[in-house]
Amino acid sequence: MPSKQVFNSQDGATYTTSTGAPVAKPYAAQRIGAVGPLLLQDFHHIDLLAHFDRERIPERVVHAKGAGAHGYFEVTHDITDLTCASLFKKVGNKARTTVRFSTVGGESGSADTARDPRGFAIKIRTDEGNLDWVFNNTPVFFIRDPAKFPHFIHTQKRDPQTHLKDADMFWDYLSLNPESIHQVMILFSDRGHPDGYHHMHGYSGHTFKFVNEAGEFHYVQIHFIKDGGAKSLTEPEASKLAGDNPDYGIQSLFEDIEAGKYPSWTVYVQTMTAAQAEKFRYNILDLTKIWSHKEFPLRPIGKMVLNENPQNYFAEIEQAAFSPSHTVPGIEASADPVLQSRLFSYPDTHRHRLGVNYNQLPVNAPAVPIANFQRDGFMAFSNQGSRPNYQSSLVPLEYKSKPYEEVQHETWLGAANADLSFVTELDFEQPRELWLNVFNDTDREHFVHNVAVHLCNAKSAEVKARQLSVFAAVDQGLSDRIANAIGVPTVKPLQVAPASAAIRFKAFA
Ligand code: HEM
Repeated sequence: MPSKQVFNSQDGATYTTSTGAPVAKPYAAQRIGAVGPLLLQDFHHIDLLAHFDRERIPERVVHAKGAGAHGYFEVTHDITDLTCASLFKKVGNKARTTVRFSTVGGESGSADTARDPRGFAIKIRTDEGNLDWVFNNTPVFFIRDPAKFPHFIHTQKRDPQTHLKDADMFWDYLSLNPESIHQVMILFSDRGHPDGYHHMHGYSGHTFKFVNEAGEFHYVQIHFIKDGGAKSLTEPEASKLAGDNPDYGIQSLFEDIEAGKYPSWTVYVQTMTAAQAEKFRYNILDLTKIWSHKEFPLRPIGKMVLNENPQNYFAEIEQAAFSPSHTVPGIEASADPVLQSRLFSYPDTHRHRLGVNYNQLPVNAPAVPIANFQRDGFMAFSNQGSRPNYQSSLVPLEYKSKPYEEVQHETWLGAANADLSFVTELDFEQPRELWLNVFNDTDREHFVHNVAVHLCNAKSAEVKARQLSVFAAVDQGLSDRIANAIGVPTVKPLQVAPASAAIRFKAFA
């Protein structure tokens, strides 16, 4: 479509400077005579160039490439026994929602079909403030010790010298940190390249806590299950699309919504009491593990529909700032150390990427009025008028007290402890189940192919052998098939501590 000049725009706007002064010739620049130098007095020209020079903001340090849309979240089932969050007070409650999907490791121009987990970030504007659910399309993650995150991400990005993605670095990290194996098994299945951004499920991965009016809490895992099912590409399809149309995911989301084919998800929770959590075979704060659906069935809570494309991508999606710490009363973080670290990391990076007043940007501003004592800073365009900017401790705030705020639901005791997990046989059980009982023959064949075409790029025989030993700890047959596919000797399983050595979860210390 030919571009609409501002003169013909529907709102009848006249071309102006950024201060609103009309400018007759947008392309003209003031100069002395016909061929002389330019004039410093030409605010229009200087402002034009100066603004252009500053158009870029830092891209997200991870999840830089993405696509997003708006829609709504609707409560479909009564879960007031689980949470007092006002969103869930009534079946039928609806809240305006913004979602951003993303790949993780690539830059903002990288291919949408790259093998990578996908981000699934949701901002639900409730009448008690914004509830952000910053999820992925996989129910587990590579790490459970938060200090590993920057190291891990470095190895998935570019080598410091060659500035190339590096298969040796990639597999060296994963084989040296084998608690990643469950996520590796999912990543190298065809689920590692979903068909676009909106044909996939979303998972909290972490355990969260829902707290009800009586102050009782449940541990929960949250699932967004795509209506009509998830769809994946095969490796050859994904690789071809990466070259032919790197923006395949952005395009198909946009075009489906324009055509009225609104993607929707049914939202479920799995719940566990503290007593159940103590008996559970795995630590519920270990994000490399899932909860069995048989033991902890999915309970429906709501639905989400995306029915509106952004009018302006930068303002409504790029500037969106999601954080697991943006939450509401009745929905809380668990003590999962990776989640706890994320509570800090996201607002910290938003202040860097968007500025200290990032929550005043229209896409981030909550639907409810803000009343607090934060003032000023760069771009404070909603500065709370003449409202006092300090609080007296003699005059208690008029706030609605909730009974659970007085209840101590988890009591933590103990000295500071430099905690670091270690790998045990427990870490291979769920990946083995996936390989032997969840994958079918085609899935297994694709998995071996998908690993082989990547692992064969590693130059180091030691790295290849080490990763094969991790696969052998899952299943010897799996490892041998990959070894044969890449033409290297087969290896024995990695030896790790017995399952009995694993740290168990205690809800009450
Ligand atoms: C210690 C672990 C982690 C750290 C430090 C971390 C940090 C970050 C940072 C700094 C960003 C960029 C945010 C921005 O610029 O707006 C980001 C994005 C994101 N992260 Fe994480 N992350 C961690 C683990 C995870 C996990 C476990 C998940 C999912 C379960 C996840 C999901 C996402 C998503 C979906 C985004 C993109 C948000 C968007 O679209 O704006 N991250 N992460």
